[in-house]
Amino acid sequence: MLRPRIMITSFPEQMGRAAADILQDLISRKPSCVIGLATGSTPIPLYRELVRRALNGELCFGQVRTVNLDEYKGLSAAHPQSFAHFMDVNLFRHITMPPENHIIFDGLSDEPDAMFCAYEQQIEEWGGIDLQILGIGHDGHIGFNEPGSCFEKHCHEVCLTENTRLANQRFFNGLAEVPKAAFTMGIGTIMAARAILLLATGEDKAEILAKALSGPITPIVPASILQLHPNVTVVCDIAAYSKMKG
Ligand code: PGA
Repeated sequence: MLRPRIMITSFPEQMGRAAADILQDLISRKPSCVIGLATGSTPIPLYRELVRRALNGELCFGQVRTVNLDEYKGLSAAHPQSFAHFMDVNLFRHITMPPENHIIFDGLSDEPDAMFCAYEQQIEEWGGIDLQILGIGHDGHIGFNEPGSCFEKHCHEVCLTENTRLANQRFFNGLAEVPKAAFTMGIGTIMAARAILLLATGEDKAEILAKALSGPITPIVPASILQLHPNVTVVCDIAAYSKMKG
């Protein structure tokens, strides 16, 4: 089992700064790097810090390419709860980056298989993902790879679990509005990234973070596969780290 680097920060804003340092270092070494982006509450302090640095002229996204982990099936990019909209509000509208340099699944695609092929092909044409940012779900999902009987390799459509829909209903007007399916990068797509940056904050993530990083490697805890990745950095706050042993 390979050991991740773990950086423990005191509060989410500090996590955002530590994670932004890692991205800034990558962008300065490789201005045309490919970054895998995550959505959800956890990476918001990171995006805030990236926007701050970009507006200050400390960071330039002009040549960076980005690829998003997942999107809700059935939501248009303009839908306020789509991940496309999230990325626009939290990052893209504030930075200078050509629109053709970022890709995200089309939630309304009626040919998802063709879209998945094109997605994987685009990542390959860009030379692969240099750094994949991940949050972690309470059930151990990464992207929208939900607990299951196997690790799904490629981009695919997934039925969201009741737990995930309940966790995400805070963004919608009730559970009925939360989509039941999503499009996601596969575990293989994620694991092919040269480096992984896993972010976690809050006591509610402590148990699953400990399970993912030191429990058995099993598709029941999808994030546990990260134990097999040679280059994982975990940036978390004290609360999320509190159940790690040793
Ligand atoms: P959260 O979501 O950051 O909103 O907790 C994480 C995830 O579901 O991957």
